[in-house]
Amino acid sequence: MEKREERAVEEGAAAAAGGEAEAAAEAEAEVNPWEVSGKIDYDKLIDKFGCQRLDQSLIDRVQRLTSRAPHVFLRRGVFFAHRDFNEILDAYERGDKFYLYTGRGPSSEALHLGHLIPFMFTKYLQDAFKVPLVIQLTDDEKCMWKNISVEESQRLARENAKDIIACGFDVTRTFIFSDFDYVGGAFYKNMVKVAKCVTYNKVVGIFGFTGEDHIGKVSFPPVQAVPSFPSSFPHLFNGKDHLRCLIPCAIDQDPYFRMTRDVAPRLGYHKPALIESSFFPALQGDTGKMSASDPNSAIYVTDSAKDIKDKINRYAFTGGQDTKEKQRLYGANLEVDIPVKYLSFFLEDDDELEHIKTEYGSGRMLTFDVKKRLTEILVEIVERHRRARAAVTDEMVDAFMAVRPLPSMFG
Ligand code: TYM
Repeated sequence: MEKREERAVEEGAAAAAGGEAEAAAEAEAEVNPWEVSGKIDYDKLIDKFGCQRLDQSLIDRVQRLTSRAPHVFLRRGVFFAHRDFNEILDAYERGDKFYLYTGRGPSSEALHLGHLIPFMFTKYLQDAFKVPLVIQLTDDEKCMWKNISVEESQRLARENAKDIIACGFDVTRTFIFSDFDYVGGAFYKNMVKVAKCVTYNKVVGIFGFTGEDHIGKVSFPPVQAVPSFPSSFPHLFNGKDHLRCLIPCAIDQDPYFRMTRDVAPRLGYHKPALIESSFFPALQGDTGKMSASDPNSAIYVTDSAKDIKDKINRYAFTGGQDTKEKQRLYGANLEVDIPVKYLSFFLEDDDELEHIKTEYGSGRMLTFDVKKRLTEILVEIVERHRRARAAVTDEMVDAFMAVRPLPSMFG
């Protein structure tokens, strides 16, 4: 294991055992798969987790290798960190393909805009590199962490699959599976192999479980780990045990894959590579992420144009001044302004974004106008998504979720 990574895995274990001073100093921000809160310093997080910064030279390489403009999420630094993404590109350059793996924990009926980010980006990667993709729906995870029955969790998984399919994935290259349906066989064998490599102390260190947590939680991490290994999908990758895996996700999922990367070499697999995003923030401000557990913090793909307009007008935290006169005089604080942050995720036109920042920051533009432009953009995205989702039939969901070989895996 690399030194920095080893330190990150061990760090958790030490904090759990003794409650170190260093852990206490960073306690103001919490980033783990179940909680994202506080003011996140992404540079510190890279150091703490032991991942690498995604720099311009990697973005340039992606452009060169795929002969397409880099996705807006790459250009704007939304995807800002990685683990071994350079190795994926090295291998790709030599003619070795890879596969993509991402997922969703179906905890709510509808997705919010934050959830769409990794799926929009994964769709771009799938199109640009022409590679297969597996999408895990962790209905078991949500059933164990939330107060949701097995049946309800399975229903939500299918509903969420429709939103995911609506992002435009290619059915000839994509396998979507629910854990309740798919876990077994080769997948389960890998889970057992992973479980045997991870001590209780280590899992407590990485995930912070306590003696009060039920054992379902403690035993879950191998379920999210093993889609990183091609042999978990014999119907897709039979005999391709050395195929590399690239995981696009937000950085909250990193602990699962730190654990996975720790055990992979011991099982004879490549460590999965990751490309990780920052969080699409809550409407109320940049301290945490847009979260499904607070409906007023989030814009859902099911919100109407009126809902979106009302939420932005009522809840979006702004760095603009509270009167027109003061705004003209002092301008807006763009650092804390949520409408500008949202625009930097979803307004594709670089020139228009720069123009808005300059005008709004200097006071020539008012908060009202920025919110109006943001509303137009988000309404368009949500309307487009709604139309695409309405076209997703049950037969299409069955087709994506069928255990089958993929006809156009590579190329
Ligand atoms: P879940 O359902 O919490 O989130 C799904 C995906 O969305 C990302 N995400 C966000 N990205 C940007 N801004 C936000 N505000 C935001 N909120 C959530 C998450 O990082 C994730 O990529 N355990 C996982 C499901 C899973 C998975 C995976 C995710 C299983 N295997 C492999 C990524 C990769 C979960 O509950 O995700």
